[in-house]
Amino acid sequence: MSDIAPQAVEALLDAAFGADRFGRTAYRIRQGMDAIPRLSFAAVEDGALIGTIQCWPVAHRTADGAVTPLVMVGPVAVRPDLQRGGHGRVLMTHMLTAAEDGADGALMMIGDPEYYGRFFGFDADATAAWDLPGPFEQRRLLARAVNGHALPMGAGMIGPR
Ligand SMILES: CC(C)(COP(=O)(O)OP(=O)(O)OC[C@H]1O[C@@H](n2cnc3c(N)ncnc32)[C@H](O)[C@@H]1OP(=O)(O)O)[C@@H](O)C(=O)NCCC(=O)NCCS
Repeated sequence: MSDIAPQAVEALLDAAFGADRFGRTAYRIRQGMDAIPRLSFAAVEDGALIGTIQCWPVAHRTADGAVTPLVMVGPVAVRPDLQRGGHGRVLMTHMLTAAEDGADGALMMIGDPEYYGRFFGFDADATAAWDLPGPFEQRRLLARAVNGHALPMGAGMIGPR
């Protein structure tokens, strides 16, 4: 991502999610964190940014203080006029390959299970007792083990690491 202007990423995210995206629960989960460079990628065509994926260091915290590091995946976004052309799959596959030996925690995300389950092995089975710092639909709170990191199954709050 280093050679992509941050403003280009922000403009693409505005186009994909709307400029009111900052109020979303996903932003609160990783508040104050920097994206993980080795798990964040850009798709570029003819010098223009057409897609982006970013991952963030977050954690699951139980009431008695146990902390399990996790990696939050997303936003994943493709320029609206180029969606459904396979770019999202390429970005996710690229990130998952990097995560196989580069992630320092299991993966979690908020997304459509119809997409992230079908292609990328995410599901909501482990997240039933998880809580987030804002409103969310439990069926869209997805997770997946990776790189030997298992998912915490019990109750816990997800937040910045
Ligand atoms: C979600 C997103 C990243 C997917 O990228 P994309 O390049 O448009 O998708 P792809 O072409 O890789 O998708 C391939 C398949 O997934 C399906 N698909 C795409 N988005 C889907 C969704 N939200 N739910 C279910 N299926 C979906 C497509 O229909 C396609 O299936 P097919 O091959 O059977 O036709 C992109 O559509 C996007 O930026 N959306 C707006 C932002 C967003 O919602 N991001 C996700 C939350 S972080």
